[in-house]
Amino acid sequence: MQSNGYAYINTIGCQMNVYDSEKLAAILKALGFRHTTDMDQADIVVCNTCAIRHKAEEKAFSFLGRFAKAKRKKPRLLTVMAGCVAQQEGKKAFKRVPHLDLVLGTQAFSRFGQHIAALQSGRRQIVDTAPSDVIFDTMPDKADVSENQVSRFVTIMQGCDNFCTYCVVPYVRGRERSRSWESIVEEIRILADTGVREVTLLGQNVNSYGRREGGISFADLLEKVARVAGISRIRFATSHPKDLSCELIQAITDLDKVCSHLHLPVQSGSDRILKKMNRGYTREIYLSRINDLKNACPGIALSTDIIVGFPGETRTDFHDTMSLLTEVGFDAIFAFAYSDRSSAPASKFSDQVDEKEKMDRLNQLLALQDQVTEEKNKQVKGQVMQVLVEGVSAKQHADFVKTSDNMQQMTGRTASNKVVHFPSDTAAVGDLVDIQIMDAYLHSLWGQPLERQTS
Ligand code: SAH
Ligand code: SF4
Ligand code: F3S
Repeated sequence: MQSNGYAYINTIGCQMNVYDSEKLAAILKALGFRHTTDMDQADIVVCNTCAIRHKAEEKAFSFLGRFAKAKRKKPRLLTVMAGCVAQQEGKKAFKRVPHLDLVLGTQAFSRFGQHIAALQSGRRQIVDTAPSDVIFDTMPDKADVSENQVSRFVTIMQGCDNFCTYCVVPYVRGRERSRSWESIVEEIRILADTGVREVTLLGQNVNSYGRREGGISFADLLEKVARVAGISRIRFATSHPKDLSCELIQAITDLDKVCSHLHLPVQSGSDRILKKMNRGYTREIYLSRINDLKNACPGIALSTDIIVGFPGETRTDFHDTMSLLTEVGFDAIFAFAYSDRSSAPASKFSDQVDEKEKMDRLNQLLALQDQVTEEKNKQVKGQVMQVLVEGVSAKQHADFVKTSDNMQQMTGRTASNKVVHFPSDTAAVGDLVDIQIMDAYLHSLWGQPLERQTS
C-alpha cells in the first residue's frame, strides 16, 4: 500500500470516543496513513470531539485552531473535526476554524474514507452530519490491537432516548440503537485472540440494550460474552438507575467474569432536582436499587456521576446530594459543575446558579468523597484481591525492594476497579494475580503477591 503520510488523532470525551477513534485510526490505516504521536509530523490531524460541557467543546476548538499556521506551511495538511461537536456545529464550525477541511458528524464515520478521498482530489470544506443506520460493523484488525493491550472498550449501542434536561447526547448522538449480539461477540473473540483479557461494554444506557430491535436482553448479552474463551473480565457502562433490572443484578451475581462493580449515575440526591432533570427516579427508588444490589452482591463496588449547580439547586438540594454520598458510600464518583448547553432544555430554566457557588459546591463534594474513598480503600487492607496485571508502574512505592534482577513494580486493577501496585519477578501483562493488600491510599493500594500467578 502506498504511504499517504502520517495521521495524528486527538480524542476528547467519553470512552465511546476512545472506541470511535480506534475505528477512525483503522480507516486511516487502510487508506495508507501511518499513526504518529508527533502532531508536527502529521499530514492529517483528526480531533474526535465532545460537547458534554462547555470546557470540552472549547478544548476541541482551541486544539484545531492551532493548525492555521501549520496549514500555511504545509497546504496539503488535512484537518478534521469529528464526533459530537462536529455534529452539533455542522458548517458553523468553519466560522471558528476557517482552515478546517472536514466536519464529520457522529453518524458519518462509515463515510470517513470517501470524504478523505474527495479532499485529496481537491474538494474543500466537507460537512457530513447526515444520519445513518450503520453502527460500527467493521471488525478490529488483529494487527491494530497493540501488544500489551489487556483491556479494551466495545461499543454495543449508540445514541440515547432519555432526554435528561441538561444533556446534549440525544441531540448529538441521535436515537438509541443497538448492535447485533453476533457482531459484538465476534469483535470480542478477535480481541481475545490478540491477548485482550478485559472488555468494557459501552452504551449510554446499557440496560435497554436491544429494546428497540427486540433482540436479546443485556443480561443475555453478558452471558454470551462470558462464554468467549480468553476473556477473564467483563465490565460495562453506563447503567441508568430507572432501567436497572433484577435480571441484570442476577447476571452480576451469577457470572464470575462480570466484575462486581456498577457505575450507576445518580446526578443529584434531591427529588426536586431529579424531577427537573427528567431522570425518571426518586432518591428513594435509587437507594432501594442500591440496597438490592448490596444484598444480592455483598461487597459490590459502586461509582456514580453527580452534577452540582443544576438550575434552581438550592443549598438544601445540594445537602441532599452530600448526604446521599455518605449514605451509599460510593467507591468513586465523577462530579461536574453544571455546564449550560444551549441545545439542552435546562438552558431555558430560570435560577441558573452562580459560577463561584457551583465551584464551591463541587469542591465540598469532592472533599467529602475523598474521605469516603480513603475510608473504603482502608477497609480492604489485609484482604486478598485478584488483580489483572496491566503493566509496569510509572512510580515506585517506598516499600518496593528489588530482590532479584527480574523484580519490577507492576500495576493492575481489582474487579472493583481499584488500582493496585505490587512487586513481582514473574507477573506478566494479562495475568490474574492474587495480591494481599498491605496499604491503602486515596488513589491506589499496595500489596504483595500471594503465590505464582495463573494465566
Ligand atoms: N449516559 C450516561 C452518561 C452520559 S454523560 C448517564 O446517563 O449517566 C456523562 C456525565 O456527564 C453524566 O452522567 C453527567 O453527570 C455529566 N453531564 C452531562 N451533561 C452535563 C452538563 N450539561 N453539565 C455538567 N455535567 C454534565
Ligand atoms: Fe445524557 Fe441522560 Fe442520555 Fe445519559 S441518559 S446520555 S445523561 S440524556
Ligand atoms: Fe461527550 Fe459525545 Fe461522549 S458529548 S460524553 S463524547 S457521547
